Amino acid sequence: MGGPVSQKHIVVGVCGGIAAYKVLELLRLLTKEGAVVDVILTKNATNFITALSVEALTHRRPYISMFDPLCSPYTHIELGQSSDLFLIAPATANILGKIANGIADDLLSTTVMATTAPVLLCPSMNEKMFLNPIVQHNLSKLKAMGYYVMEPGSGELACGATGPGRLPEPQEILEEISSLLSPKDLKGVRCLVTAGPTREFADPVRFISNPSSGKMGYALARAAAHRGAEVILISGPTHLSPPKGVKLVKVISTLQMRDAVMAEARRSDIIIKAAAVSDFRPKMKFEHKIKKDTSPLIMELEENPDILRELGELKREHNFILVGFAAESQDLVANAQKKLLKKNLDVIVANDIKMEGAGFGVDTNQVKIIVKDQGILDSGLRSKDEIAHLILDKVKGLLGELHKGP
Ligand SMILES: Cc1cc2nc3c(=O)[nH]c(=O)nc-3n(C[C@H](O)[C@H](O)[C@H](O)COP(=O)(O)O)c2cc1C
Repeated sequence: MGGPVSQKHIVVGVCGGIAAYKVLELLRLLTKEGAVVDVILTKNATNFITALSVEALTHRRPYISMFDPLCSPYTHIELGQSSDLFLIAPATANILGKIANGIADDLLSTTVMATTAPVLLCPSMNEKMFLNPIVQHNLSKLKAMGYYVMEPGSGELACGATGPGRLPEPQEILEEISSLLSPKDLKGVRCLVTAGPTREFADPVRFISNPSSGKMGYALARAAAHRGAEVILISGPTHLSPPKGVKLVKVISTLQMRDAVMAEARRSDIIIKAAAVSDFRPKMKFEHKIKKDTSPLIMELEENPDILRELGELKREHNFILVGFAAESQDLVANAQKKLLKKNLDVIVANDIKMEGAGFGVDTNQVKIIVKDQGILDSGLRSKDEIAHLILDKVKGLLGELHKGP
């Protein structure tokens, strides 16, 4: 069990472009995610990065020439056929031209020709080269033939010019790969995810909040989008970039989050409430910054609406799967199970906030996924992306039952 990249065989072709150095970080990330990564360096790529760095990061010797003693007579066919995904980054103007025109004159271009795996091309070059009509024509031709192309970023290029041609960041390429390798089992499903903390202002600069980073909710939104769902992410303030293809609705307070959620709830098939909302807000908000000499200051708090309970009520009339989170510091399972019943949830994801590497702020989590009338799954310590997929696997199972009807 793992994320979509785990245990996949990914062949990475690296060409002689200045951005080749960025691919070393991508190789590290892919290997960390559990992928088996084989690298083909073009002869020109070895002027930019070394075989030694590649091997140190992937733990596998890269291939360079078809006629190396490392290659068997059929390496180009075997690598092409055994891969789940074929990535070329940076893809030079040269390799784009070769693939688009059926030229197979080295190991990389020959192996691409032999592959039946999806091919993801990440063009990167000087902006004049990128905008050259021949390169653009080759890219259109490749897209039309079913090659996936990640558009280069715009900005200052290594050569000093400004314009399109930058290789996307390694994390962005990893996201694209995860998306391509994810099953599209949530296609046609509308998924609403809430994430992050809320802020309850007492004066223009001070607020009540909590340390939620939003990472778990964003990971869920990303995973659902990769699996083909239409995703609406309602988020409190975070430092995270919204996942590609997701509709982001930004809110600040619990009241705003409630309004945004209720406006979308009836049209949703899945609602996942991963946000850590404030249960209370200051009863009175000062118009101006509270001065020190206001002391002693007694702040009265009033209760915020319970969004999860409202959704649980709405679920009695509308068919959707409702997933809640329970961050507990004691009696984890018992408290979570109580919340699941009380709020009419289908699934509750419980995490022990005292456990190291789990909960607020970190990239990992360890949760118990409790499905109503079914068992409890202990995730073990995993990345939040992997946990998101585990939660969606459970939700997917329930969705099937929901659509089958009574
Ligand atoms: C310093 C330097 C940087 C280069 N950067 C790029 C680049 O970013 N993109 C590109 O398409 N070509 C770039 N080139 C040109 C390619 O290296 C050249 O077209 C080569 O034939 C590509 O071979 P390959 O596709 O087999 O690796 C660069 C050349 C040099 C000398």
